[in-house]
Amino acid sequence: MNNILVATENKITTITINRPNKLNALNKETIAELSQAIDTAEDNENTRVIILTGSGEKAFVAGADIAEFADFSPEQGKELAAHGQEILFNKVENCSKPVIAAVNGFALGGGLELAMSAHFRIASDNARVGLPEVSLGVIPGYGGTQRLPQLVGKGRAMEMIMTAGMIDAATAHSYGLVNHVVTQDELISTCEKIAGKIMRNSPVAIGAAIDAVNAGYIDGVDGYQAEIDCFGASFGTDDFKEGTTAFLEKRKAEF
Ligand code: COA
Repeated sequence: MNNILVATENKITTITINRPNKLNALNKETIAELSQAIDTAEDNENTRVIILTGSGEKAFVAGADIAEFADFSPEQGKELAAHGQEILFNKVENCSKPVIAAVNGFALGGGLELAMSAHFRIASDNARVGLPEVSLGVIPGYGGTQRLPQLVGKGRAMEMIMTAGMIDAATAHSYGLVNHVVTQDELISTCEKIAGKIMRNSPVAIGAAIDAVNAGYIDGVDGYQAEIDCFGASFGTDDFKEGTTAFLEKRKAEF
């Protein structure tokens, strides 16, 4: 891997986008490496939670790499968005293990889109986020026009997209775009603390809950029916046996 760092400790895999001199901008190679790292972490028995962050103190990710697509044709632009969404952004969203974005600075364009693909976001107080694409004459292409309205509501999303402006961490928090705001020093430890709470619970049930929540956002899919199916399937799992038995025996479940 040339552009990312991956470390697994205490069942948490931290994936760090590591191009600090380009503010961790997402070029093609970085997207491919992230895609592979998510696959590997999903398959790794030692991973229960994934934290996505950026290296350095300035940026999570300052966007897709503008230098790489500056001379693209419409066909190449379409392919860039389609391929990126398929191999990374949709993969993160549908990962069966929780993905937390630790937003440690600028999260712009593709950077905010990556953070929004994660299951939830924690920001440091220096974070500034936005979708500046229209200032470049394009629109968000990695799911931003869909996920931003889902997270903050249509009106706020429209304003953010149309103004191409940045909002600070406190505003992102008040919009519900990030769940918590902490100092940069506390960012990773806060994510790890939340990961610790998640890891007390059934990983199989968590994977099913991710599927059921996401189902409600897929056009033509009945989220309530998906919930019924996932709920029913839970009853056939070892984790259900362990969880209910542990409760009745008044002990902590071992998942
Ligand atoms: N793509 C490619 N390179 C990028 C980048 C991006 N999205 N964002 C930052 N960089 C590069 C800069 O070109 C610069 O490289 P250089 O030192 O080789 O010239 C380096 O990262 C540092 O960025 P710089 O602009 O000097 O930092 P700054 O503190 O002055 O400004 C930002 C920070 C985030 C405001 C500014 O970098 C910016 O506006 N970036 C683009 C954001 C954007 O439009 N993203 C959406 C893309 S679709």
